[in-house]
Amino acid sequence: MAGKGTFYITTPIYYPSNKLHIGNAYTTVVADAIARFKRATGYEVWFLTGTDEHGQKIAREAAAAGKKPQEFVDEIVTWIKELWKELDISYDDFIRTTEPRHYEKVQQIFTRFYEQGDIYKGKYEGWYCTPCEAYWQERELKDKKCPDCGRPVELIAEEAYFFRMSRYADRLLEHIESHPEFILPPSRKNEMINNFLRPGLEDLCVTRTSFDWGIPVPFDPKHVIYVWVDALSNYITALDYGEAGSDKMARFWPADVHLIGKDILRFHTIYWPIFLMALGLPLPRTVFGHGWLLLQEGKMSKSKGNVVDPMLLSKRYGSDAVRYFLLREIPMGQDGVYSLEALIKRINTDLANDLGNLVSRTLTMVERYFDGVLPAPAPSGEESDADLRELALQTPVLMERRMDELKVHEALADLWALVRRSNKYIDQNTPWELARDPAKRERLGTVLYNLVESIRFIGVMLEPFMPRTPAKIWAQIGLQEDAGARDWDSLRQWGRMKPGTAIRRGEDLFPRLNLGWELHRAAGEQKAPREEAKGQAARESAAPADESGLITIDQFSQVDLRAATIVEAAAVPGADKLLQLTVDLGAEGRRQVVAGIARYYRPEELIGRQVLYVANLKPVKLRGVLSQGMILAAEDDQGRLALTTLDRPLAPGSKVR
Ligand code: ME8
Ligand code: MG
Repeated sequence: MAGKGTFYITTPIYYPSNKLHIGNAYTTVVADAIARFKRATGYEVWFLTGTDEHGQKIAREAAAAGKKPQEFVDEIVTWIKELWKELDISYDDFIRTTEPRHYEKVQQIFTRFYEQGDIYKGKYEGWYCTPCEAYWQERELKDKKCPDCGRPVELIAEEAYFFRMSRYADRLLEHIESHPEFILPPSRKNEMINNFLRPGLEDLCVTRTSFDWGIPVPFDPKHVIYVWVDALSNYITALDYGEAGSDKMARFWPADVHLIGKDILRFHTIYWPIFLMALGLPLPRTVFGHGWLLLQEGKMSKSKGNVVDPMLLSKRYGSDAVRYFLLREIPMGQDGVYSLEALIKRINTDLANDLGNLVSRTLTMVERYFDGVLPAPAPSGEESDADLRELALQTPVLMERRMDELKVHEALADLWALVRRSNKYIDQNTPWELARDPAKRERLGTVLYNLVESIRFIGVMLEPFMPRTPAKIWAQIGLQEDAGARDWDSLRQWGRMKPGTAIRRGEDLFPRLNLGWELHRAAGEQKAPREEAKGQAARESAAPADESGLITIDQFSQVDLRAATIVEAAAVPGADKLLQLTVDLGAEGRRQVVAGIARYYRPEELIGRQVLYVANLKPVKLRGVLSQGMILAAEDDQGRLALTTLDRPLAPGSKVR
């Protein structure tokens, strides 16, 4: 499948000022899903990401770390590339603004602007926000702070070069108004027009002299080029702009999508198109400003110490699960909320229950009833068969339409409609009942065939979003060798699975997780990541489980298990899954413990119960509430949960052995 043309998609280039958080990773995961989807559906894709390494902010952070800027950014860039590898980011190019291929081109671009009269020399007096690397007029400030990020601004007065933005303002306004796809989602368009274009564009200061970590102006080297002029140019320098021997500009420019966060929309929909006009280049088709990934307590920030590390999350839950969460949970264009509860819920519900169960139930039945050999389907007039087949054949078409509109979360919702429809097909056809009646063996074979074929469809459509899971599915349904049955084109035909294929149920794709455990682990980690890691390593080397996974009685006795009586129970404000309990341990007094059981028990029905309690767990804070120890509960595949209680009363605090 090929020949649909080219597709050029970019992420912002990241400031390597610190480790990236889950909000930063969001941009890149979305771009990757779009890039993979376009590749799968026949486009020649170029997917660009990179790092924005110059400017005052990086210079200061390097100085604070006692490092030379280049050395400082090199280390972080190495980490960023590891993160993208961990998250299966399939970029075609990674550009660094400190590379000569970029650096030299930016100097040429700047010189051209100067020579054609777009840039002139003057003096800048005004305000600057270093975290945003943005200039502000006095009247634009909010309470004397940066109107974008709310942080303090600095007064600067320097000799500087200016870009005549006003020259291009009318043309830009005309372009924005006549190209409804240029700024997406549409709501952001008016914001740009009303806040920035209509009031009239000021000339933009495009050089600095008070520090030197940047690209020098070639004809006046005490000036360095403003970091946004430098950074935005990456989208064309990475395509070898101005390089005679390269055809990348011809093939891929203009960009199809610049995917960015809404905070940097102004730079991408005002400055960038004006620079492109000055270079005589066509404008990108779409600049999409996605929303913020927030925490329940508000915005993630390094200074608040509440950032979520995507590397840790991916190592623990797997990159496919993290990707799925980001792509599914946050409606494209809107803000979304990250919480560990929400992630675990997506894993348990969508991945373990819906997808994982579909695969494991189906394949278990093929093994049990047909010795693991895929039966042949018989012609059938059953309505449920036609329904399943029609939905499977429609889903790729629907998803292509959604992805053209960049509605990634809706494309996944369409795919999950097929997953759920397939589970419903099992319940409608009750294969375990068909299996009891030898006269219904042909029907049983047809039902199981249809399910495996539906799983094949789902696997193909899953790949752009969750690149690792399909391989596990192919291994179980015997498609490792049949690439032709795993590509997008194969979804035009229902019935490509070959009867007789060996089917082998493997490990569950997504084991269910215990929310209480996961909250405890995460809370312990956030407190002191290094110490915790050391402690963990020490514990593991002191008492390793043997190769069979068995532990000794000594190891078990390290867990201080008690019978604890629940004496108080109340909801935790703002956390609908948590209850705050007080437990009585007799001679050892009372402890406060937070438990993830609010959906299963009302506070009042818990009072007086005696439960099993882990007394020597390190205390943690869950949602700001101190939790000492943990009460034990059992949870089944259906998501039902039951507390472990004693079957007759004992003195509170009794040891469990
Ligand atoms: O802005 N939720 O880089 P950057 C969602 N170097 N997205 C978020 C986010 C959050 N909580 N926090 C940050 C820069 N982002 C410039 C770009 S491009 C020529 C230069 C997004 O490292 C943010 O919106 O500060 C942006 O898209 C990306 O992370 C990189 O931010
Ligand atoms: Mg193109």
